Amino acid sequence: MPQISQNVDLLPYNTMKVQSIASNYTEIDSVETLHELATQEVWNQPKLILGGGSNMLFVHNVDGLVIRNAIMGKEVVSETDDEVLVRVGGGEEWHAFVLYALEQGWAGIENLSLIPGTVGAAPIQNIGAYGTEIKDVFHSLEAFNMEEKCLEEFNKGECGFGYRDSIFKRTVKGKYMITSVTLSLSKNTSTVNTSYGALTAYLSEKNITEPSVKDISDAVIAVRQSKLPDPSELGNCGSFFKNPVIPLGKYQELKMQHPDIPGYEVSAEEMKVPAGWLIEHAGLKGITRGEVGTYPKQALVLVNYGERNGQKVLDFAQYIKSVVQEKFEVQLDPEVNII
Ligand code: EPU
Repeated sequence: MPQISQNVDLLPYNTMKVQSIASNYTEIDSVETLHELATQEVWNQPKLILGGGSNMLFVHNVDGLVIRNAIMGKEVVSETDDEVLVRVGGGEEWHAFVLYALEQGWAGIENLSLIPGTVGAAPIQNIGAYGTEIKDVFHSLEAFNMEEKCLEEFNKGECGFGYRDSIFKRTVKGKYMITSVTLSLSKNTSTVNTSYGALTAYLSEKNITEPSVKDISDAVIAVRQSKLPDPSELGNCGSFFKNPVIPLGKYQELKMQHPDIPGYEVSAEEMKVPAGWLIEHAGLKGITRGEVGTYPKQALVLVNYGERNGQKVLDFAQYIKSVVQEKFEVQLDPEVNII
């Protein structure tokens, strides 16, 4: 039977390093234990699934059952000369799995090196960085339906992936715990994605003309370390807001006023603009309010210098949002889950 603890402080389990007391807390290391847990009285309480806690801001105590996913394991499901299908436990640490894949000579996730969090959480927001998203290598996942108490499989189409989005953030939010994810990785390690400017710059500086997947991973790690704070040293959730998608007309208007504003085409009518640029050009980069601030090297990351009250972090985020709205008339929406 799974061990259930009462009144557990979630501070060690969230990378923003704020306090939140969970009335009930347990860790689940297998699907069997999850089935057992589902037969207990405590299962009737509201449930919250926790992975690495790297994309969550707690602003309240959690009156219910927090279940930390600690289901481990890596298993090759099938293999050809070109490709491997590998099933990974939802509780595995994402970056550790990326390094494992590199060691095995599997390509496809090297651009997603050093992203904090767990494998089970990765599809929920379709993690992405440096021109790659998990959906590009995603095959399927298995998830425990917490209402019906049974396992279900979702293929790629069924997950409804979008930019930092999937059905697990929308229509079926809170209904499933992702127990394993199956990825389709390539054994062809010569095809790499260097479309992203910062990677090209790093590689040319190192005189690497034909980068291996390991070179790409090293480049991503170096670029991330140069811009993003390490959550084990400074509380943060990575990008706090999503990059807003705005109508083309609005983008052209902004471009007239600010010729250097970057923008990426989303469709014929829409452009995505970097929230970090908007925040910086609203004069908010590197500022602090109390013990919360924007990171001096990347304005899109909110950092916590010691605040324990998540509401204070949210108040600061709302302040950032309101200044950007006033200056550019563009709405910022959080990328992190506010709990
Ligand atoms: N920029 C500024 N000022 C800043 C930050 C950025 O002007 O303070 C400008 C940069 O100069 C650049 C543009 O904004 O022209 C984009 O910046 P960057 O390459 O750092 O990427 P981003 O759009 O801010 C996104 C993801 C990151 C991911 C990087 C690299 C979102 C919300 N964020 O950030 O993801 O690592 O691209 O692919 O899409 C995360 O989700 O937690 C995360 C870190």
